Amino acid sequence: MGRKKIALIGGGQIGGILALLVAQKELGDAVMLDIPDKEGVAKGKTLDIMEAAPLMGVDSNLRGTSNYDDIAGADVVIITAGLPRKPGMSREDLLDTNLKIMSDVAKNVKKQCPKAFCIIVTNPLDAMVYAFKKVTGFPKQQVAGMAGVLDTGRFNAFVAMELGVSASDVAGTVLGGHGPTMVPLPRTCTVGGVPLTELLSQEQIDGIVKRTREAGTEIVKLLGNGSAFFSPAVSAIEMAEAYLKDKKRILPCAAMLEGEYGINGYYIGVPALIGAGGVEKVIEIALKDDESAALMASLEAVKKAVAETKL
Ligand code: APR
Repeated sequence: MGRKKIALIGGGQIGGILALLVAQKELGDAVMLDIPDKEGVAKGKTLDIMEAAPLMGVDSNLRGTSNYDDIAGADVVIITAGLPRKPGMSREDLLDTNLKIMSDVAKNVKKQCPKAFCIIVTNPLDAMVYAFKKVTGFPKQQVAGMAGVLDTGRFNAFVAMELGVSASDVAGTVLGGHGPTMVPLPRTCTVGGVPLTELLSQEQIDGIVKRTREAGTEIVKLLGNGSAFFSPAVSAIEMAEAYLKDKKRILPCAAMLEGEYGINGYYIGVPALIGAGGVEKVIEIALKDDESAALMASLEAVKKAVAETKL
């Protein structure tokens, strides 16, 4: 059995960190694909990491390309191709441009790696992952959107900052669309096994929920040009690793729902079991009335974006 092959579609900010993480974690060999104009960047970034490999003591071959033939037979495809937000833009403002890019990527991925586990990162996330699934016609297990892992990571980080404890002890979860309507679930969050609701006041929790919903925008404002890239890359790699190593992790992801949570035919953030079968199962949480109402409101936002794809 040779090494696994990981195709990174998009060699921008997130793509670069993805390539570094693939090498550092020895997940396999990586091919970074970008448009012909940016082929040099893809080649340059991957060569740069190859030259760091001896220093990191890892074995991973990386290369850059603009030719889809080079991603043939990839085991995992992570897609970040598309424009990021600028200050003042919502994720939905990217829809038209990124939809064209996503459709083109989907056609090529379908042709070159029909068996790959595909992780979509491009925004507006819930609509882009829907579009990718529609265009490829891949089984739902094979296509997931990266958003919940990131949104949960942000929530957990803010809880840890507030409490002054290790972020690795915080186990929260966030449902819903990847945007301001997302639904963090403080009720189910524990810190080292202790319910969060016993550690923080309602007011503190409300503050964390609000900051989580706006966390992407907070970064966009600070960066001034572009959006978050370290945390999205780490999040997508967590999903890829769960698949490649059959870890059976329960990760919040955008998964295609067919009746779960009373939702049918849409991608939206839910806890999903990720293993060698891809999205092996969607885990359902019995929601309280207000949580359920918030999820339905988030679904409306997702439906609106999906309707704009006309797919
Ligand atoms: N095929 C391949 N790559 C493409 C294509 C295409 N058709 N169109 C654009 N790209 C490439 C760009 O050339 C660029 O190198 O996608 C890359 C995107 O990189 P950045 O602009 O640095 O954006 P990044 O921060 O990586 O975010 C990518 O993920 O989180 C989302 O909102 C974010 O939609 C954005 C995406």
